[in-house]
Amino acid sequence: MASQSFENVTLIEHPVINRDLTILRDVSTNTADFRGALKRIAVILGYHALKELPQRTFPVETPVEETTGYEIDQDVMVVPILRAGLGLSDAILQFIPDAKVGHLGMYRDEETLEPVDYYSNIPDGVEEDMVLVVDPMLATGGSADDALTFLKKEGAQHLRFVSLICAPEGLKRIEKKHPDVHITTAAIDKKLNDDAFIVPGLGDAGDRYFGTT
Ligand code: PRP
Repeated sequence: MASQSFENVTLIEHPVINRDLTILRDVSTNTADFRGALKRIAVILGYHALKELPQRTFPVETPVEETTGYEIDQDVMVVPILRAGLGLSDAILQFIPDAKVGHLGMYRDEETLEPVDYYSNIPDGVEEDMVLVVDPMLATGGSADDALTFLKKEGAQHLRFVSLICAPEGLKRIEKKHPDVHITTAAIDKKLNDDAFIVPGLGDAGDRYFGTT
């Protein structure tokens, strides 16, 4: 949707994603359909975000002959930013079922628009693991910036960020402050409005995913 391009951003375009993004954007979508669409997109984005995972080969016997088998050679840690990131992390665990899950609790103060941290629980191994931070919305980028800064202080060195919909303002902020972190997304929207909501966006992902208002 946005004409700008960002060096550290991979925009995944696919008819299935376009269909599911439309379901997410549509104000009349019910909670069950919202959850389904969010999880389907999360699987595709997570899959792309992890494409550089190192592999190890080993011999494997098929019923016919020996061939090359592959194992993922780095532990994966998924870190959802609460609350809305939980939908993405659940989806990613479908294809990396042994991933560790760290949690970062933060919400955006509606007055200051700054993130407020209220919880963190990061498993051991963050220094070596491929750490995938997930949050459906990247608006001002404040939450993502805080999360990435926190994880770097904990020692994380291999960070990726997955977000369904990003605002150019937030992408600029992350590109400037965390040029080492690659972002995988399904949409770069037009802009933020005066309340720092992504336009056109999908509203508040957490509220729509959890049925709160
Ligand atoms: C939303 C969203 C991000 C953040 C994005 O969370 O899920 O975490 O806002 O905004 P930012 O880029 O400007 O920081 P919210 O505060 O609504 O919390 P919730 O997930 O608990 O609903």
